[in-house]
Amino acid sequence: MPDAIIDEAVRLLRAGGVVALPTETVYGLAAAIDDRAAVQRIYAVKGRPAGHPLIVHVAAAGDLPRYAAGSHDALERLARRFWPGPLTAIVARTPAVPDVVTGGQPTVALRIPDHPLTLAILERLGCAVAAPSANRFGRVSPTTAQHVRDDLGGDVDLVVDGGPARIGVESTIVDLTGDVPAILRAGAIGPTALGDALGVPVVTSAGGSVRAPGMLAAHYAPRTALVLVEPDALPAEAERRQLRGERVGVLTLPSDAALAARGLYASLRGLDAAGYDVVLAVLPPPGEANAAVRDRLQRAARETAT
Ligand code: TXA
Ligand code: MG
Repeated sequence: MPDAIIDEAVRLLRAGGVVALPTETVYGLAAAIDDRAAVQRIYAVKGRPAGHPLIVHVAAAGDLPRYAAGSHDALERLARRFWPGPLTAIVARTPAVPDVVTGGQPTVALRIPDHPLTLAILERLGCAVAAPSANRFGRVSPTTAQHVRDDLGGDVDLVVDGGPARIGVESTIVDLTGDVPAILRAGAIGPTALGDALGVPVVTSAGGSVRAPGMLAAHYAPRTALVLVEPDALPAEAERRQLRGERVGVLTLPSDAALAARGLYASLRGLDAAGYDVVLAVLPPPGEANAAVRDRLQRAARETAT
């Protein structure tokens, strides 16, 4: 059975299709990297503005020189330590990466995702796929095949069901093109582990650039207004709003950082579907382990601020 779905995905990707693929972080919406029309369809299906670059997913470290130009020292260190895994590295690109994938930028975002079905599809396909998260632009990323179907429905040629995503938030993005490595988006792999692997400190870029839509202040947003509250203030704030006649949902996350990340988007979707007027959420405490969940909740709250 998995074999049949792998073959079908490869056939569709070769024929210019767009296919939703499971990864360990979130589901991606994939097209063969060298098929310009198929990559353009990704933008159309997502409603993503042109010029916002896509992540290039490859099967193995041996494929990296095809797409990454210049010195591969840092990339190889990261590959050895973290790939396949929830990390994306930005490096100079080769001409094998078309403009439509990078939004015309001289750099490319590369990653080897950690999911057996998707790795098998990439291997059999024999080239990389460009894939953003498989959600409509600006909304919550999908962590199950059903989320993808709910969001994109018949607009995709196939949804490969690989079960719920293990990590649950998008990959850490590290930019290797500057003087110092810089994290552009927080994910499961933090600056300490990255600095360790690279042998130099890694800075966290405070989101000054809009090259990455995941860095826009308002992103990853549910439809229902999300309000962040201090833990101590939660009961009083819920009561105050209920007295005003609001239907109040509460987002509670497990204290374990990995579990909190894994369940975050499914919880947001569930609360969104429940028809509350507002959802109150408590940020997990600061620290590397919670950085990704804090970041996504803060962005979601900004977008829906009431
Ligand atoms: O975990 C993930 O990274 C998931 C799975 C599917 O791999 N993908 C994902 O893709 O989150 P997307 O497109 O939703 O977010 C990719 C981010 C965007 O913010 C994009 O702008 C940024 O990567 N990006 C891609 N290429 C870039 C580049 N050359 N320079 C700066 N940012 C780049
Ligand atoms: Mg996305």
